[in-house]
Amino acid sequence: MDFNLPVLAPSLLASDFLHLQDDIQACLDSGITWLHCDIMDGHFVPNISYGPAITKSIGEAAPEAFLDVHLMIEQPELYIDAFADAGADMITVHQEATRHLHRLIQQIRDAQVQPGVAINPATPVQVIEPILSEVDLVLVMSVNPGFGGQAFIPETLEKVKRLYTLREENDLGFLIEIDGGAGIENARAIVDAGTDVMVAGSSVFRGKGVTDISNTDQIISNNIQKLQTAMSG
Ligand code: DX5
Ligand code: ZN
Repeated sequence: MDFNLPVLAPSLLASDFLHLQDDIQACLDSGITWLHCDIMDGHFVPNISYGPAITKSIGEAAPEAFLDVHLMIEQPELYIDAFADAGADMITVHQEATRHLHRLIQQIRDAQVQPGVAINPATPVQVIEPILSEVDLVLVMSVNPGFGGQAFIPETLEKVKRLYTLREENDLGFLIEIDGGAGIENARAIVDAGTDVMVAGSSVFRGKGVTDISNTDQIISNNIQKLQTAMSG
């Protein structure tokens, strides 16, 4: 699938689960081509979100969109097939969540899904250097995973810059994604550092339904427009 990079990827964690289809449609109507699904198990992170069934419904509501599934779960090996069957185009696993990252990446590829690897704010880029040629995306967590609406950790941009340089030096093809605390105020710095995919949860869905539920689509569309303008500087 071709994208106009950098791409804005709404995280549905911040959407209204009672009106998930409407929120997805509002994103699509605003030109969104990439959707980010945050899967949390209450063990790898201190929160529980949703699993393969809801992910499948999200895919059905947006059959043309690229479905980017971010697994924040223990033993991700056990759930690759379930998320592949749910329609994931990409499955991103945390380096910290598995002992056998290389095998897990292969497992994702064998399931005909693009593999990505994620690193927490305290994890250095060095630990994933040996795997960079095997993945289609590297996700740099810019908050500690588990919750939406947290403050961006600016030091994580150094990791984006490092990945950008490593990609150039070694002629590799992975995309660089940043996840957590992205908004209008830091979008330009995020893109300038070398980010290809900017995940945004609260900054896409913020404000909706607060005053009048009927203007939800307009709020989402305004938020998306402002974020995209900020990204293009
Ligand atoms: C955090 C998730 C993020 C989160 C982003 O664990 O991986 O995708 O939903 O939300 P905001 O943009 O609100 O920080
Ligand atoms: Zn995420």
